[in-house]
Amino acid sequence: MRLFATLLCAAAAVALLAKPETFEVGKGAFLLNGEPFVVRAAELHYPRIPAPYWEHRIRMCKALGMNAICLYVFWNFHEREPGVFDFSGNADVARFCRLAQKHGMYVIVRPGPYVCAEWEMGGLPWWLLRKKDVRLRSNDPFYLDRVGRFLKRLGRELAPLQLPRGGNIIMVQVENEYGAYATDKSHVANIRDSLRAAGFTDVPLFQCDWASTFRRNALDDLVWTLNFGTGTDIDGQFRALREARPDTPLMCSEYWSGWFDHWGRRHETRDADTMVRGIRDMLDRGISFSLYMTHGGTTFGWWGGANNPAYSAMCSSYDYDAPIDEAGHATPKYAKLRALLQKHVKHPLPEPPAPPPVITVPTFTLDRAISLFDALPAPRTSPQIRPMEDFGQGWGTILYVTHLPRAAKQGETLALDEVHDWAQVFADGRLLARLDRRKKEFSLTLPTDLPAGTRLDILVEAMGRVNFGASIHDRKGITERVTLGGDTLTDWQVFNLPPEHALVAAKAAQAGARPQGPAYWVGTFELDETGDTFLDLRDWGKGMVWVNGIALGRFWEIGPQQTLFLPGCWLRKGRNEVIVLDLKGPRAPTLRGFDRPILDQLRTPDLSVHRESGRTLNLSRETPTLEADLPPGGGWQTLAFPKPARGRHLCVEIRSAWQEGPVAIAEIELLGPDGTPLPREDWGVTFASSVDPQVANATADKVYDLQESTFWQTSPHAKAPHAIVLDLGAAVEASAIRLLPRVEQGSPGQPKRLRVFLKPAPFRL
Ligand code: GLA
Ligand code: CA
Repeated sequence: MRLFATLLCAAAAVALLAKPETFEVGKGAFLLNGEPFVVRAAELHYPRIPAPYWEHRIRMCKALGMNAICLYVFWNFHEREPGVFDFSGNADVARFCRLAQKHGMYVIVRPGPYVCAEWEMGGLPWWLLRKKDVRLRSNDPFYLDRVGRFLKRLGRELAPLQLPRGGNIIMVQVENEYGAYATDKSHVANIRDSLRAAGFTDVPLFQCDWASTFRRNALDDLVWTLNFGTGTDIDGQFRALREARPDTPLMCSEYWSGWFDHWGRRHETRDADTMVRGIRDMLDRGISFSLYMTHGGTTFGWWGGANNPAYSAMCSSYDYDAPIDEAGHATPKYAKLRALLQKHVKHPLPEPPAPPPVITVPTFTLDRAISLFDALPAPRTSPQIRPMEDFGQGWGTILYVTHLPRAAKQGETLALDEVHDWAQVFADGRLLARLDRRKKEFSLTLPTDLPAGTRLDILVEAMGRVNFGASIHDRKGITERVTLGGDTLTDWQVFNLPPEHALVAAKAAQAGARPQGPAYWVGTFELDETGDTFLDLRDWGKGMVWVNGIALGRFWEIGPQQTLFLPGCWLRKGRNEVIVLDLKGPRAPTLRGFDRPILDQLRTPDLSVHRESGRTLNLSRETPTLEADLPPGGGWQTLAFPKPARGRHLCVEIRSAWQEGPVAIAEIELLGPDGTPLPREDWGVTFASSVDPQVANATADKVYDLQESTFWQTSPHAKAPHAIVLDLGAAVEASAIRLLPRVEQGSPGQPKRLRVFLKPAPFRL
């Protein structure tokens, strides 16, 4: 006992004597304990990696040549109900940081509270939407109060891990790309103050933004960093920042290694050599970076987000075409980057650890099932239809039932305003239609007469909540009303079907004979050895999979993702249980495990072409609102209209370009009479003269998806003039158009001569 006490005293003395470590902002460089330090960070997301694999992934990053891990904190993962916090298991972010420290890695923490990240609602908890008029990411007192409480609780976990306090956290981010959302310095200041109040006072605080937006909310006392992707011209990106702050250390806080996938769109990849070249250019200039993602992993369960406008929900895989693939294996990109970093760091890098074993699982049958309609919970009643948040439900499926108050005629319109996100409509149990928010399908024409009293079932599946832009206020289910021939339908019974395993398992326990339509399917398989595997979902329709009580993620036959990553650490020797909720119904109720994923099999007509064969655009009788040349060189360009114009239909015609080959536009905005950008949430594509099939997702809707790094590009075979026609959803008044050509190096395909048409009536096609 005496000896122990002596040792304890000695340890305390050593701790007191050792000078605390520091991380500071110096002139032109970050300073670690007073010495210049270039951050080479690897972005990893702890909820996207099963906790038993955390250490493996951290070691992979270390062996790659990184010296830090950069991570978001996902508020909604920790506070699923207001005031109930979870920092255990896969949510134990402090443990994740300590594991990084164990391997000599620093940590950059990005606690949001908004994080984007292709994560459900950008990390914000859905229950914030229970307040009808909540204004997210603003100084709404309710929002600030909830943010403050969360950050304070987070501070208890992470503030002690700041570098000067003996931990490894070297930087903390304030908000996330706020310039792409709003202009309000006071809000950024409020988040900064909440972070300080939570104890994040001992390391530099920073903001991240795009080169085009960083000035909007830049606070004098924060470090400014920039985000951009593979292929970008590094000097061009930092030009404005260098001018604004000649002495600041430069950092790319997100250098995008690849990109994420949406259901129903082609799988995204980015060239390895181009990615490595960008990192080389940054290292040559002493620029710090974080590689987003170094390992993307998997968005398990219901945590995938979505983009809007052009609503598109995220796939479950977050492979991201990153150097370390979804299951933790090194890719050719990894090898190339490691070779570069090895040259840079001089000391020999450790060898990458062996990946967890991979197994295949022979085909097995899910031999029991129960129709979703036979496994309903007790209903609630509601005179008016309401979104699922109003019933205290966060995620999953919701069923609305009513009876027609009158007879309905074939050809009448049943309008669901709006479907968030995928609905099946049944009349007396017969499927009438499936409506898909991605396609703006919000109504159906009745295929037959329906007698008064017909039972109407509307089964709605919530996909991800939007994680970027103003649409993050994304309520699920049916958001406003259902009308039949203009009459609002009332007197609803509502059945809440959230995806938590305990509830799903209770349904599945009653499974028996095989039903048709939406159903829970149950099966088991036996294993002698566990290992990582990829469940083949190609025979299934649309829904979610649970294995041994854990929600693996969403699947959808349309692809491009056809397999679900099943980590071996969640399997056991002997019997394993699988539940599948399939809202459509399988072709065959069997599953098997592959030793590799299928992430690139799109099995749906490409939504993106926007040109039925034979259709052409006839502008011969139209008068342009504006005819002008776009000057050469990158960046946003504003072209004022000679006089304000009004209309709902916008056509941008490109008559010539600065270079040979295809032309591209990354973003289009219209400015209102007062010069502020008009909202684009309701925009849609009517026509695109062509799309480059070589580039994944170079579709026309990329001109209004709010992302500067995505673009519409014409086919290399198409000749000018090129054109796109957009339906703005409602008539607007505009004084100017703003366009952003592609932001990548050399700005390929820059348009020159333009004609712009804005008019009330649709164009002739
Ligand atoms: C932005 C966000 C990230 C992520 C990337 C795209 O930079 O800050 O959270 O959404 O885009 O993957
Ligand atoms: Ca874009």
